[in-house]
This record gives sequence, structure tokens and C-alpha cells, in this order.
Amino acid sequence: MRIEALDLEDRASVSALAQRLSGMAIDVLLNNAGLYGGSWDNASHRQSHDSMDYDLWEQIMRVNVMAPFQLVHELRPNLEAGQRKLVINMSSDLGSIANNAQGQSYAYRSSKAALNMVTKGLSVELAPLGFTVISMAPGWTQTDLGGTSAQWPVEESVANQRKVIAGITTQDNGRFVDLLGRNVPW
Ligand SMILES: NC(=O)c1ccc[n+]([C@@H]2O[C@H](COP(=O)([O-])OP(=O)(O)OC[C@H]3O[C@@H](n4cnc5c(N)ncnc54)[C@H](OP(=O)(O)O)[C@@H]3O)[C@@H](O)[C@H]2O)c1
Repeated sequence: MRIEALDLEDRASVSALAQRLSGMAIDVLLNNAGLYGGSWDNASHRQSHDSMDYDLWEQIMRVNVMAPFQLVHELRPNLEAGQRKLVINMSSDLGSIANNAQGQSYAYRSSKAALNMVTKGLSVELAPLGFTVISMAPGWTQTDLGGTSAQWPVEESVANQRKVIAGITTQDNGRFVDLLGRNVPW
């Protein structure tokens, strides 16, 4: 195991990581880190239709959209040298435009919808190189972000995610899946 520091708000930090990993094959890139701006339990007032923290929105777009894109861009040689050439962008049910029946969470929702567009574009452009690029919704999970009333204990959510990720093949390229491997509508 190797652990490296990375600040996804800082493009130089992402580039520096790619430099440090130069020449190392990577099988799976899981873009998991993400930002809501606090916990679901108590931070939604920062991104509602009548109260918006625009600095937070910018920060969220950097971490949730631009950084995952930059990581794929900068680590592409590593992934090309890997076996699975698999990129998983951790999205959210809240990024589904079709499923948005509630409004709210404008910064986070728009970032995950944008991340889904990044997934779709990369899945098209990198397919000829043998890549598989998907978006995943991990379910409402009891993390710092998800809060205490979330549906899934972390262990169960992660165990399900791992099963899905283990079974992903090139046939799944361009999909948006949940933690049970079912399609999530875009
Ligand atoms: N929990 C849910 O219900 C839920 C639902 C749908 C989707 N998701 C998605 O699942 C993923 C994981 O979320 P989570 O629930 O585990 O959230 P979390 O408990 O808030 O953890 C977020 C992780 O992202 C890292 N991170 C945030 N900003 C960063 C930055 N600028 N640079 C590097 N790392 C940064 C944090 O690192 P530090 O601890 O060092 O700050 C932390 O490890 C996210 O993409 C989230 O949007 C979660």
C-alpha cells in the first residue's frame, strides 16, 4: 500500500501527484473524494434557491468536477499501462436530472450532473484506447457527508460498491450505476 497527499482544490497538487506516480501502472482510478459543504444533516441551507454560498459552489465544482477530470487527464498514461483501464467517478443520486423531484442542494446536484457529463464524454473518447469509464451512485450512506439518518451503514455500502466494481467490464462503459449495479437514470 502507498498513501500520497492530494488537495483536489489545487491543480498543482494533482499534477505533483501525477509526477510522483509517473511510470506506475494503475488498474482502477476511483475518484471518490467529494464535497457537499458539510453534512446533509445541517449544511443544505448553504445551497438553497433563496440562500447560496457562491464561494462554496465554486469550491464544490473544483473538487467534484474539475479534479476528477484532471486526474483522468494526468494519470492517463498510468491507466493505459494498467490491466483494467477502469475509471469510476463517484457521483450521486442527487446528480440525476431525471430523478430530481425535490429541488434543493443546487451546488452539489449541479456538480454531480456535470461530473456525469464528464463521465459520458470520457467514456466515448477513451473507449478506443480500451478504457471503461462509469459514474456510480453509492447510496445514501452514513458518512460525515451523508449524516446520521442515512440509509446505508458504511460497511454495507462499501461492500456492495466493491462487488459492483469487481464485476465491471468494458460492456459497462458509459453507464451510471448504483451500489447494486442497477442503472440510474441520467
Ligand atoms: N455519503 C453519501 O450519502 C453519499 C451519497 C451520494 C454520493 N456520495 C459521494 O461519495 C463520495 C464519498 O463521500 P463520503 O460520503 O465518504 O463523504 P465524506 O465523509 O465527506 O468524505 C469525503 C472525502 O473527500 C475528501 N476530500 C474532500 N475535499 C477534498 C480535497 N479538496 N482534496 C482531497 N480530498 C478531499 C475528504 O478528505 P478529508 O477528510 O481529508 O477532508 C474525505 O476523505 C463523494 O464523492 C460523495 O459526493 C456520498
